[in-house]
Amino acid sequence: MRTEPVADARPRGRVAAAWHWIDDRVGLSAVMPFMRKKEVPVHRHSFWYYIGGMALFLFGLQIATGILLLFYYRPSAEGAYESVQFLMAEVEFGWLIRSIHSWGANLMIFMALVHLFSVMLLKAYRAPRELTWMTGVGLLFVSMGLGFTGYLLPWNELAFFATRVGTEIPGVMPVVGPFIRNLLRGGEDISGATLTRFYALHVSVLPALAFMLVALHVLLVQRHGMSVPPGIEAAGGPKRTIKFFPHFLLRDLVGWLAALAILAAVAAFFPAHLGVKADPFAPAPAGIRPEWYFMFMFQTLRYLPATIMGVEGDVLGILGFGAVGLVLLFVPFLDRPRGPEARPGKLWTWLAFAALGYILLFTYLGYTFNPTT
Ligand code: HEM
Repeated sequence: MRTEPVADARPRGRVAAAWHWIDDRVGLSAVMPFMRKKEVPVHRHSFWYYIGGMALFLFGLQIATGILLLFYYRPSAEGAYESVQFLMAEVEFGWLIRSIHSWGANLMIFMALVHLFSVMLLKAYRAPRELTWMTGVGLLFVSMGLGFTGYLLPWNELAFFATRVGTEIPGVMPVVGPFIRNLLRGGEDISGATLTRFYALHVSVLPALAFMLVALHVLLVQRHGMSVPPGIEAAGGPKRTIKFFPHFLLRDLVGWLAALAILAAVAAFFPAHLGVKADPFAPAPAGIRPEWYFMFMFQTLRYLPATIMGVEGDVLGILGFGAVGLVLLFVPFLDRPRGPEARPGKLWTWLAFAALGYILLFTYLGYTFNPTT
């Protein structure tokens, strides 16, 4: 029996020699079908598919700018502030890199939140994407942890006192509270030991965690392909799809370049502040407040009465937010249509809108709050 010679699908030409060399050793051509198989559905909600990619780009940008900052930053209470001052004033484009890192962190968390709500409203967490959702929630928490730990690193007055308040909050919990507070602080109060801990968390522990979660998240997205929202499914599915590689990725790239241009412009017009150096013995300045993404929780704790049914208000508040965090993690298992014919319900859509409304309202109240009235 004659068999047709198997066509070699690998690229030819000059570059091909390098490709063959690598492919023979690494086996890249085995993963190419996996990379190429992804199709992106085109429908009226397709825009939201770009947001996760945007968060991914910003994550990469944070790693790149963060590494550059490490070449000058000194993680000690004596040298941190001065090293950042030097970077802003003396190092060529140091101010730009620091400002992009600072604005980029805010934009990344904003994009992760937009991505979370869009995924929630499009019900993209339904089976088999439960783990994609859970790794996403993990990423959001890790990103917030990166924001919290990074805030202290310039060792300026505002960051110092905001971190004192921020680490005081878990400290109100009975039994474990003081232990958690002292573990975070590396002692009773904020000191050089806190800076060392936050630095270790910010540049190694949390980025390593984020990296693993991002890898798993993106691998799962690649494995399951993009989901189609229930409304589009019910209307007979998307009319057409486009190839992820290269068509969707090229559109992603346009968005990434635009984001980079906007970030660079914002960084140039509004460079990151440094303020004055932290002085642990100075009185706390007025207007201490957390980063915007913690504001709604901070404001909620402010409004809670001292005791609710004999329990400290703050303790109940913290437990409440912990419970909401757990519910968020398990949304794919809680929002389960019952019965074989059941359509996904509206309850979780309303809950998502209610949560969004709550976050927006309490963030607004936090920024307009006047403690003297
Ligand atoms: C830094 C944080 C994050 C990065 C870098 C990231 C990245 C991505 C990327 C590149 C995609 C594919 C494109 C898209 O659907 O937008 C995706 C999809 C997805 N993400 Fe994220 N993500 C992050 C956070 C989150 C969060 C906070 C959640 C929700 C809790 C989440 C849940 C999902 C789900 C369920 C999908 C699948 C969407 C579908 O199949 O339609 N992600 N993510």
